[in-house]
Amino acid sequence: MANVVIIGAQWGDEGKGKVVDIYTEHAQQVVRYQGGNNAGHTLVVGDETIVLHLIPSGILHPGKRCIIGNGVVLDPKIFLGEIEGLKKRGYMQDDSQLVVDSNLHVIMPWHKAIDLAREKHADRKIGTTGRGIGPTYEDKVGRRGIRMSDLVKPQVFRRKLKEILPEKNFLLENFFGEAPLDEEQIFAEYSGYAQQIEKYIGCCSRSLNKAIEEGANLLFEGAQGTLLDIDHGTYPYVTSSSTCIGGVCTGSGVAARHINSVIGITKAYCTRVGGGPFPTELDWETPGTVGYHLSTVGAEKGVTTGRSRRCGWFDAALLKRSAQVNGLSGLCITKLDVLDGLKELKICVGYELDGEQTDILPMGADDISRCVPIYETM
Ligand code: IMP
Repeated sequence: MANVVIIGAQWGDEGKGKVVDIYTEHAQQVVRYQGGNNAGHTLVVGDETIVLHLIPSGILHPGKRCIIGNGVVLDPKIFLGEIEGLKKRGYMQDDSQLVVDSNLHVIMPWHKAIDLAREKHADRKIGTTGRGIGPTYEDKVGRRGIRMSDLVKPQVFRRKLKEILPEKNFLLENFFGEAPLDEEQIFAEYSGYAQQIEKYIGCCSRSLNKAIEEGANLLFEGAQGTLLDIDHGTYPYVTSSSTCIGGVCTGSGVAARHINSVIGITKAYCTRVGGGPFPTELDWETPGTVGYHLSTVGAEKGVTTGRSRRCGWFDAALLKRSAQVNGLSGLCITKLDVLDGLKELKICVGYELDGEQTDILPMGADDISRCVPIYETM
């Protein structure tokens, strides 16, 4: 199988987890390279249901090494909670099964507080998951983030807290009118997490490149989807990471020439959670409509936030952009059975935009919101 990337070709929730699970059988190492606990998938093993937001589902297979790469942002409390839940159910008996990259950025309490406060006060809401994802990536790029390697060094962690927290508290109190955060409380709580996480810390790039030299098969598990990419998505209604193929290399330290295939996952219709343009969106709330059928038969509710997903027809012009940006070498279509019972199917094959026709999704939310879909009916 060599080295395979699984990427969401729409707005996330395409059913990547199922495909990842199939490929995991043939891989020795499974890697998350972007996003954080804004993602989530439900795994049904026998009569057990397991929900994971951060740790690759490969962890359920003894002997498979799971890596959380440098491109991920990690909430320590969620991470430790997932490990506890897995161990209680008899999984992950060997701690060396899991590696967390030392360079990844940690989601701190101010990131979550700012994410929530921004959404509360914004006129134009992104509809984030409220997990602190955007503010953590902002601080990473702004060079004021806390990496995992900082968290495990008490002196460095203390110095960084002293540097960073006053600015965050100023923003929280004076701009958003929210309660400030307490340095001592954060230091004690997060130092405790650091002690528990230390044994999992390693170097993602070194581990993966060594595995490549030894001829191992790697599986890269994407989170969210192409149209939520910070550069190639429906900006600004996107997440803050590189969900497209480029994110694999920057988020794991593996070179592009080692990637052998890129499998795009798409539903047989479209869904999207949160705000932003969605050209083929249907009325999915009124009983008796096609949209309602997709929503209810497809059980379209988010695993992370429990929000209903917006539903619409399949969009081939959107998929064309995904295929180009990611260089898809394969495609997996999920949830075809949800279309059973519909008398007529529509597929969007292009749009009218400002009097012209196009067969590919344009870039940016403003252009996309003016697109009028052109359908083929069958
Ligand atoms: P954030 O990632 O929490 O900052 O949210 C930004 C946008 O991405 C919002 O519209 C979210 O609903 C969406 N989003 C984030 N993660 C997922 C996911 O796993 N599936 C679908 N949408 C997501």
